[in-house]
Amino acid sequence: MSAPKKLYIKTYGCQMNVYDSERMAEALAGYESTDTPDDADMILLNTCHIREKAAEKVYSELGRYKGLKADKPDLKIGVAGCVAQAEGEEIMKRQPMVDLVVGPQSYHRLPELEAKARSGQKALDTDFPEEDKFEHLKSRPKAKRGPTAFLTVQEGCDKFCAFCVVPYTRGAEVSRPADRIVSEARDLVERGVREITLLGQNVNAYHGHERGLAGLIRALAEIEDLKRIRFTTSHPNDMDDDLIAAHGDCEKLMPYLHLPVQAGSDKILKRMNRQHTRDDYFRIIDRLREVRPDLHLSGDFIVGFPEETEEDFAQTLDLIERVKYGSAFSFKYSTRPGTPAAERDQLPESVKDERLQRLQALLVSQQRSLQDAMVGKTVNVLFEKPGRLPGQMVGKSEYLHAVHVESDTLIPGDLRSVRIVESGPNSLKGVLN
Ligand code: 5AD
Ligand code: SF4
Repeated sequence: MSAPKKLYIKTYGCQMNVYDSERMAEALAGYESTDTPDDADMILLNTCHIREKAAEKVYSELGRYKGLKADKPDLKIGVAGCVAQAEGEEIMKRQPMVDLVVGPQSYHRLPELEAKARSGQKALDTDFPEEDKFEHLKSRPKAKRGPTAFLTVQEGCDKFCAFCVVPYTRGAEVSRPADRIVSEARDLVERGVREITLLGQNVNAYHGHERGLAGLIRALAEIEDLKRIRFTTSHPNDMDDDLIAAHGDCEKLMPYLHLPVQAGSDKILKRMNRQHTRDDYFRIIDRLREVRPDLHLSGDFIVGFPEETEEDFAQTLDLIERVKYGSAFSFKYSTRPGTPAAERDQLPESVKDERLQRLQALLVSQQRSLQDAMVGKTVNVLFEKPGRLPGQMVGKSEYLHAVHVESDTLIPGDLRSVRIVESGPNSLKGVLN
């Protein structure tokens, strides 16, 4: 028998791509994974199109594989993900060394595409097929897993924020049926998983359960050895009453919520087509904190959106001051082809740079003070792996802070009560209670 071929996948962008990369590796059953392109028989770039220079990044990465391909003519190179969806044909034309292009909705067709590429033909599939790719993907092999896993439950978006390519690259909102998700979750738990993060571009718009995402979370909470549930990423308008209530009464749902608002001025929110006001956002946060006072919030922010004045930006800073975020991601607005805001007059880059710096300074200081405030408190830590120093184990608290503890007895998957004794640059130090 010949040795299995080797597959190298490089993943860009969000957690949904991380999940997709795992599933693609499983779909290509004849391959085993390698973590370097050097010995690979197939290289797959799982790309992200959310911000600018996405395609350029892909081309420059491809350029680095030229030598490999020259040395090993059998090496197949594929591009997957959202850049593949948006620019697949163009990539094939511009970069002849690409053998295979596959969009995010067609991964279940990878085995046929791979066979086609192996036979020397170009293979391209960027359809939005009728069939459910998850059902067609080979079920996960029963190998042991680490304590945390992602599970995609929903894809696509119908919101059409004026800056965003997702509705175009990932298509309309689609939810997977709850019973399938519960059985996939059971399978993960049997293999050692203790925490599942439910993923979706608009995960709280999930409608594969009659009671929406809250219904799904409650169904998953019944799985005894599943200890923690998280979900990301959400839109404020889909935070329904039941989901808010679940933060108060579902013990396994962690007190950490990523709820992007993008901007703090009503004028910009309207121009962004977010379909809610800043007060709507405050009201949701107030209700969440009423049922779960220790909730940590995370968000996404865009600065320098067209027509953003200094006054509008000050409103974003004010919103951040009021909410107090445990963590956040922030970006300069970048024009995305085909989206409405790309056609509008743009702000100078220097203004965007300067605003981003001020915004990030505020977010970092908030993050820091919330992390420092954990000292002296008791948290629950799900341990994931050994730390950098011998005898150390690292895990995450319910608020998603990394916590390290000195112990020779802990193993990955242990969930233990820990008292925080120190706050370092990127993590907390604790002792077992
Ligand atoms: N420019 C800058 N940031 C963007 N995002 C999405 N589209 C753009 C864009 N055109 C950010 C949003 C979103 C996150 C995933 O990426 O903040 O929530
Ligand atoms: Fe993009 Fe808005 Fe949909 Fe989020 S809600 S994926 S930002 S269009």
